[in-house]
Amino acid sequence: MSVSPVAAPSIAPHATGPARDPAADEALDPDAMRRPLPDAWYCVGQASGLTGKALRAVELNGEQIVIGRDASGAPFALRDRCPHRGMALSKGGFDGAELVCPFHGWRFSTEGRCRDVPTLSEHDAADFSKIVVQRFPVVESAGFVWVNPNLGAPGETASLPALDFDPVGSLVVELVVEASFDLTTLSLVDPGHVAFVHDSWWFRPSKELREKKKTFRPVPHGFVMSSHATTTSSPVYRLLGGVPDVEIEFRLPGVRLERITAGPKRLANYTFATPLTANRTLLTNALYWNIPGLNLLKPVARPLMRQFLTQDQQVLQHAQAGLDRKPTMVLFGQGDLPSQWYFRLKREALEAARAGRPFENPLETRELRWRS
Ligand code: FES
Ligand SMILES: [Fe+2]
Repeated sequence: MSVSPVAAPSIAPHATGPARDPAADEALDPDAMRRPLPDAWYCVGQASGLTGKALRAVELNGEQIVIGRDASGAPFALRDRCPHRGMALSKGGFDGAELVCPFHGWRFSTEGRCRDVPTLSEHDAADFSKIVVQRFPVVESAGFVWVNPNLGAPGETASLPALDFDPVGSLVVELVVEASFDLTTLSLVDPGHVAFVHDSWWFRPSKELREKKKTFRPVPHGFVMSSHATTTSSPVYRLLGGVPDVEIEFRLPGVRLERITAGPKRLANYTFATPLTANRTLLTNALYWNIPGLNLLKPVARPLMRQFLTQDQQVLQHAQAGLDRKPTMVLFGQGDLPSQWYFRLKREALEAARAGRPFENPLETRELRWRS
């Protein structure tokens, strides 16, 4: 396969990708490319704390949402807004079956139907059965709650991250980044920043840039890179002993799945980007393992994971400030091709949804070379 360096056009921030069919441009609302995909599953937090009568307020794509579990233990997600006067339902009570608004006591089922307006007199003819709170599609996977902000039945969206082994331990770190969803998501597929941003001794002992050559192939709704780690790889890999196989998948809307295998030993490092508002994005990093000995390292690993995410957070916030002043990017060289692929995948998801046809991955298997 011949590969030549590619210079991408200067592009609008979180807006466009490389050269495209002009007819497709006409068809697609350009604003749609600047927003996070409207019909996709986003991680809204850990499932573990959501028990019994707990309610949790979460934010997704500018929506305030309240999540909890119904009587059967299934998660529910409702707009966190009482239709009466706009009160946050997450501030009220929940008896396991009904949410009670703390302002005037209206009661709602976990389906969002109004069940009672206690201030009504018997002689009041008003019918509250038509009053509803918007319900969002919600599912649980890999220890997290996932919400699709699209109103109505979810269309064809990327499958949810799952685990293909039984973990004996896990570690989760969350951090809010004051940057757009696209800019934050690009950091999940950007090999070029690693040497400069993540230069901690424990992650990258050598300061030298080395030539890398990796093959990327398309997978449903994304692409994957597989490789054998080398002895010069991160010390984190060496914790597993031996030379592990590493597979890193990116999947729409903003999911990075790193799977590390050394014989029967398994480690999964998952990162999810969630749009909170137009300029705030939640980064969630979850590490899972099936090696009991690693449980002892949890107190050490947590601050290191936080340090790693903070490195991304700081640099992304500064870059966002630059994009706010002048909203263009130059995607340049093979190391930036995965970033271009992100925009191509996103565009295809929007065009497929718009045309009511199945998503067709526009990517091909490719070998990329860069230095990092
Ligand atoms: S605002 Fe909710 S009952 Fe009045
Ligand atoms: Fe990073």
